[in-house]
Amino acid sequence: MNGDNTSKSKVMEDFLSISGLTKKDLVGLVDEATNYQKRFRKGERCFDELRSHSVVSLFYENSTRTRMSFERATKLLGGEFAYFDIASSSVAKGESLRDTAIVLEALGFSAVVVRHYSEGVPQQVARWLEIPVLNAGDGCHEHPSQAVGDLVTLAERFGSLEALKGMKVAFVGDVAHSRVARSVSLALSMFGATSIFVGPPEMIPAVTSVEIARNLDEVVADVDIAYMLRVQQERLLVRETLDVSSYIRRFQLNDLRARRMKKEAVIMHPGPMNVGVEVDSTVSKAIDLLAPAQVRNGVFARMSILSRLLGGAQGV
Ligand code: CP
Repeated sequence: MNGDNTSKSKVMEDFLSISGLTKKDLVGLVDEATNYQKRFRKGERCFDELRSHSVVSLFYENSTRTRMSFERATKLLGGEFAYFDIASSSVAKGESLRDTAIVLEALGFSAVVVRHYSEGVPQQVARWLEIPVLNAGDGCHEHPSQAVGDLVTLAERFGSLEALKGMKVAFVGDVAHSRVARSVSLALSMFGATSIFVGPPEMIPAVTSVEIARNLDEVVADVDIAYMLRVQQERLLVRETLDVSSYIRRFQLNDLRARRMKKEAVIMHPGPMNVGVEVDSTVSKAIDLLAPAQVRNGVFARMSILSRLLGGAQGV
């Protein structure tokens, strides 16, 4: 499924990045996810596509939504899911990433879902293993399954993916450290939406092709989607101490700013949310905030991705 896959002997492909996908791939994944969403809403809970498959998570960074939704998606599809706990594993005794990944494959898992604090790790694991590898977020690089889920949410909200054409999307805050912003912005560009990066200079990536704003007030009334981002304190360099008051003054989406947004505009956030920093308490509970839908649709997106990777293949 993914252009980053370099292994020639792999029976099935990997799911590693949005940049390795085509618009047609994304349309297919979103359509399938939407189909799962409809069936789920009608009460269906037993889907068969992953029967006899077992998926394992290999997360070197914390997660609630991504890990749990991969687990939920696997189980809804009739598969088994194993949570690999790094802290209680032999990684704590010094076992390398490569050896750990090879052990998981030898244990007979059908696929491994990898999250890591360093860019490129899922891609490296994919080169080591024969089984499919899914990127659940690598450093500041990509978070492709989040982007598929967000497309499902936007297609639901605006009626179709075609409706995204011509829309303006402000990614607000710590864009430089956000793998979500990178994947979602790439995905939206395939459907004709334009990104604007809004944040202080140290939180904006060095790209020349994207409009930049240094204050949320400059753009808030013009955008169709305000995509709010968490300040990733864990990725800031020691010298990059955040002046929280100044940040809030210029970049927080508060009730006052939200009222200036277009009537049809929506607010998104991938979570976890720092209420009081990037959004205020009112916005965190606003009806226009799609964050709960993003989580719900994340399950259907991951069902679609897993089913595409493993659905036609015989499990172990
Ligand atoms: N959106 C997201 O990646 O959230 P988690 O870190 O909780 O998985």
